[in-house]
Parts: sequence; structure tokens; C-alpha cells
Amino acid sequence: MYSLNIGDSLEFMKSLKDGSVSATITDPPYGIGADANPIRGKSTHHKTNWDVAIPKSEYFSEIFRVSKKICIWGGNYFTEYLPPRMGWIVWDKGQREFSLADFELCWTSENKAGRIVNHPRSKSLAEGNFHPTQKPLKLIYKCIQFLGLKEGDTVLDPFMGSASTGIACLKMNINFIGVERDPIYFEIAKKRVEQAVLQPSLLTPANTACSGRLDSSASQRSFITDGELPSKARGATRRR
Ligand SMILES: C[S@@+](CC[C@H](N)C(=O)[O-])C[C@H]1O[C@@H](n2cnc3c(N)ncnc32)[C@H](O)[C@@H]1O
Repeated sequence: MYSLNIGDSLEFMKSLKDGSVSATITDPPYGIGADANPIRGKSTHHKTNWDVAIPKSEYFSEIFRVSKKICIWGGNYFTEYLPPRMGWIVWDKGQREFSLADFELCWTSENKAGRIVNHPRSKSLAEGNFHPTQKPLKLIYKCIQFLGLKEGDTVLDPFMGSASTGIACLKMNINFIGVERDPIYFEIAKKRVEQAVLQPSLLTPANTACSGRLDSSASQRSFITDGELPSKARGATRRR
């Protein structure tokens, strides 16, 4: 089951109960202007200045409040909000001394041995080029495994982009709640998820969607109460 929501994720997270999601796996803006960087994929990616600054502390407070476990890509940009932890995940991009970084870092809530994922950036392009900072599915599979998530758990991504986290979760039979505030990337995410669930292995009765729009209290109510999400994500009251 999945729920894709358009709007500001801070407002959305405020509507969730403490510890109501099994995990947050996310990739927030790093504040490095990636949307305007021509090296990052197609020049046709639309530019909305989403990467001019990192999210405010309240976003991280809400992630910590609603999540049992957490993976945050680009954790090195958010150290002022993240406590020291042993269990970092490193993405080795298999490139050296190129104009983009040789690796990326993921902060996790876990205190266990850190791990390295080897995945050449060139291979990621085979998954399509939907977002300038699109994450390969292999990285999200690693997060899912590292956090010890199981089928039926629920993952939140409050900075969904093109929904790479969502697609990896759905392929692992993990429920997904995504929030994206940019309407163009929201539509890209929606199409990408809809196409992914059409694959035979994902065509299960459980893979039903319930889409909410933060600016519509009616559809938000349906997200909360129609019973399609597990009880831990249900029953949240929405503050206005
Ligand atoms: C680094 S990108 C995520 C890319 C994603 N990992 C992927 O594979 O496509 C971060 C995304 O967060 C969105 N975003 C930024 N601030 C947001 C907010 N307050 N609420 C919801 N989405 C937000 C941006 O529009 C951008 O698409």
C-alpha cells in the first residue's frame, strides 16, 4: 500500500502520531544548488530552487518524533541536527576524482557497524533519469536491510523527489508514505510508482494507492481514515 501526498512535509508529519512509522528513509535537500547543476543529469530537469538551503530543525524534530528508525542521505550536511551514530552507510560511486563526489553518506539511527554499497553512478542511469538527485534503488534496499525492516512495515519519505524510496519499499512489500511539495516532481513520482506497481511481481491486492493532497482536507481525511494504511499510520489527527 502506498500514499503519495503533495505539500509541505512539515505540516504532513505534524499530523502523524509519535512513532507511527517503522522508519523514515529520506534524502532531503543538501543546500548545494543541485537543481541548478548541469552535471547532474538532464538539462531538462525543471529548476525550482528546491536545493538552496537545508530543511529547518523542525523537520528533523518531526522525523525523530514520528519514526522508530531513520536513514538520512546526505547526513554530513545535517550534522547540527543528527546525534553521533556508528552506523553510517557509504555509497561508493565507483568513480574517482570526477567533478562530482566519489561517495555519498547516509546517517542512520543505528549503532552498529557501518557499511559500504558499491554502485557505479553509470549503472543508476539505467533506472531512468527522473530527478537530478535521484537515488539508485540499491541504496534504498541497503537502508531497508540495515534498519531490519520487514514486509508490512511502513516507511515515510518526507522529501520524496521521484519516489525512489517508494519504489524500493513497494518491491519489498513495505508500505510507503511519500510527501513532495513540487507539483512537477509529485506527478513524476506518481507516474513512476504507478508504473512500478504494474509490474507482475507488484500486482498484488495489497498494492492499492490512497493519494492525499495536503491542501484538501477531504482527501487528507480519506488518507487518515479509510483504513488502507496499517493501524500504526492510521488514526493520526491533523492539526491546522
Ligand atoms: C534530494 S531530492 C530527493 C530525490 C529523491 N531521493 C529521488 O530519488 O528522486 C529532495 C526533494 O525534496 C523536495 N522538498 C524540499 N523541501 C520539501 C518540503 N518541505 N516538503 C516536501 N518536499 C520537499 C524537493 O522538491 C526535492 O524534490
